[in-house]
Amino acid sequence: MDNTKLELAQLAQLTQRIFLKCYGYPDEKLVQAPARVNLLGEHTDYNDGFVLPCAINFYVVVAAARRSDKLVRVIAANYQNQSDQFDLDEGILPHPRYPWANYIRGVAKTLLSHDKILTGMDIVIAGNIPQGAGLSSSAALEVAIIQSFASTCQLCIDRKEIAIIGQQAENQFVGCQCGIMDQLASVEGLRGHALLIDCRSLETKAIKLPDNMQILIINSNVRRELVNSEYNLRRQQCHEAARLLNVEALRDVTAMNLDDLRTHLPQQVARRARHVISESQRTLDVAEALEVLDLSKAQALMAESHLSMREDFDITVPEIDLIVKIVNESSGNIGGARMTGGGFGGCVVCLMQKELVSQVCMAVEKLYREKTTRTASIYKCLASDGAGEVSLT
Ligand code: GLA
Repeated sequence: MDNTKLELAQLAQLTQRIFLKCYGYPDEKLVQAPARVNLLGEHTDYNDGFVLPCAINFYVVVAAARRSDKLVRVIAANYQNQSDQFDLDEGILPHPRYPWANYIRGVAKTLLSHDKILTGMDIVIAGNIPQGAGLSSSAALEVAIIQSFASTCQLCIDRKEIAIIGQQAENQFVGCQCGIMDQLASVEGLRGHALLIDCRSLETKAIKLPDNMQILIINSNVRRELVNSEYNLRRQQCHEAARLLNVEALRDVTAMNLDDLRTHLPQQVARRARHVISESQRTLDVAEALEVLDLSKAQALMAESHLSMREDFDITVPEIDLIVKIVNESSGNIGGARMTGGGFGGCVVCLMQKELVSQVCMAVEKLYREKTTRTASIYKCLASDGAGEVSLT
């Protein structure tokens, strides 16, 4: 068994053991949903632009069984088996204490609002996705719960609808105005590939990742702070820019330079808009570069993306900028390093030739600790398949 299958099997067995012990009968369905890393296209999804994420081999696993009543009971293995329960027929409200429980409650409420007929369910959840790191542990949780309802209640629901319901639950119940990228990547991921997603039409195109390239994720272990408020603020600024430019979304603005933007927009909003407009185009360009195996072009565009996030979108932090600098210096500027995810901490993603990996890891481990007294966590990831049932055979 390869490592990924082994870790997935271990998570699955853990949920099954807890299920049997706590509920007194065996589960019926085992479902997984993966994390994602975004290779390019940051804060472009809610501007109807392009993104290029891939699902990765970190997972949320859910063991579930259908109940004959309307009660949903949930146990979270990662939170010392904390538990929650709610009734599907009794107006679902946010949990008074456990933020994790709101993802399950929010998803159930949103499924009901989409006229899906749900019965109660007993659930155990476990996962190995680093939390607060910008790798979408929450989207994976939403997707895994929707998949569990879909398979235990035999819902008619397609992959895009799963992603949309997950996003709505997060927007309307949890309170983060995220775009569609994370849920869609977790649902539609494809082994060995990134997904070029058009966030307006939700069309996806699988882009094969070259065999000689490694996806390396470096976690700064700076937990993202203020992420919801700053994220929602960026979103408002982008909408303001679109309104002032008289377009439906920033996706509809092409090739405007900063001077042009400044004549229509206040200075800070102009910088936000420049990031989004250039980032969406870079995403298309990286996808094309990967397709024609122009790896140095892809890496150079990833480096540009980081600068754009740092200078125009103001979402990087010093620790993240330091990691990017160490990768650039130790790889001879071909590490393809950039911050990934919503920002304000979290991870750097790199796309680099496999033979560079060990020298870059050594440099990051040493220099990051020396300069910050923090320890970086480094994950060598595989682009993986999207959510589905787990088979242990
Ligand atoms: C978070 C959101 C996504 C996306 C990214 C930034 O991960 O959930 O929808 O906006 O930030 O690219």
